[in-house]
Amino acid sequence: MAERPYTLLSCAMSIDGYLDRASGDRLVLSNAADLDRVDALRAGCDAIMVGAATVRNDNPRLLVRAPARVAERAGRGLTPTPAKVTVTERAKLDPSASFFTAGDTDKLVYCASGTVAEARELLAPVATVVDGGRRVEMRDLSEDLFVRGVRRLMVEGGQSIHTQFLTAGLADELQLVVAPFFVGDSRAPRFVDDGRFPWSPDRRAQLRDVRRIDDVVLLRYALSTRFCPD
Ligand SMILES: NC(=O)c1ccc[n+]([C@@H]2O[C@H](COP(=O)([O-])OP(=O)(O)OC[C@H]3O[C@@H](n4cnc5c(N)ncnc54)[C@H](OP(=O)(O)O)[C@@H]3O)[C@@H](O)[C@H]2O)c1
Repeated sequence: MAERPYTLLSCAMSIDGYLDRASGDRLVLSNAADLDRVDALRAGCDAIMVGAATVRNDNPRLLVRAPARVAERAGRGLTPTPAKVTVTERAKLDPSASFFTAGDTDKLVYCASGTVAEARELLAPVATVVDGGRRVEMRDLSEDLFVRGVRRLMVEGGQSIHTQFLTAGLADELQLVVAPFFVGDSRAPRFVDDGRFPWSPDRRAQLRDVRRIDDVVLLRYALSTRFCPD
C-alpha cells in the first residue's frame, strides 16, 4: 500500500454532537483560546482539508493567523499557511471564495472525473484541479497528497469528510472539542454520518488526553499506531 500523510482530524461539536445549526449563520462552537490552539495545529501541518460544502457554507479562510507562527514557518522555508485542499463532485465552487483568494499558498481541488473539465474552466486561475477518479476516494487523495509532499494533513470537516476518513481507517488522530451547549435540531449536521467505523464497543479508540480550554473540553484520541503525541 502506498504511503499517506499523518492525518489529524479536528472538529468542534455541541454537547449533543452537532457541527453546526440547521440553517442560517455559521455556528461558533469554539472560543478564543481554542481557536489559538487550532492555529498552532494548522501551523504544524503541510495541508488543511475541508469539504466543498464547508467552502460554500462557511467560506473559511483556513489561514495561520499568529505572526510568530507565520515567521516560524518562513524560517523553515514554508509558505505562511499550509496548502489548502478540498474535494467536489459537482464542481460548484466560487473562485472568489476565501478558500481560493486568501493566503499565499497552493490550493488543490480534487474533483470527480465527470466534472473535472467544468472545474478546470472555473477554477484554473485560482487552484490546481486534480482528476480524482469516478468518485474521489479519500485513500487515493491521501496518497496523491503524499506524492505532492504532504506529510502532515489536517482535516477540518465537515460531516461527510470526517465520516469518509474515519470509516476508511485513514485517520491517525482525532482532536474533538465539545462546546458547552446543545443544538437540539436533527436537521443540523452531526460530527459524523452513519457508517461502519473501525472503533466499536469491542475495539475502543484510545483516549490520550483530555484538556479543559476555558469553557470547552478537548478530547484527543489515538486512532492508529502512527499516533504521535508530539
Ligand atoms: N464544527 C466544526 O468543526 C466544523 C468544521 C467544518 C465544517 N462544519 C460544518 O459542517 C457542515 C458541512 O458538512 P457536510 O457534510 O455537509 O459537508 P462537507 O463535508 O464540508 O462537504 C461535503 C461535500 O464535499 C464533496 N465531497 C465529499 N465527499 C466527496 C467525494 N468522495 N468525492 C467528491 N466530492 C466529495 C461534495 O461536494 P459537492 O457538493 O461540491 O459535490 C459534498 O457535497 C457545515 O454546516 C459546516 O459549518 C463544522
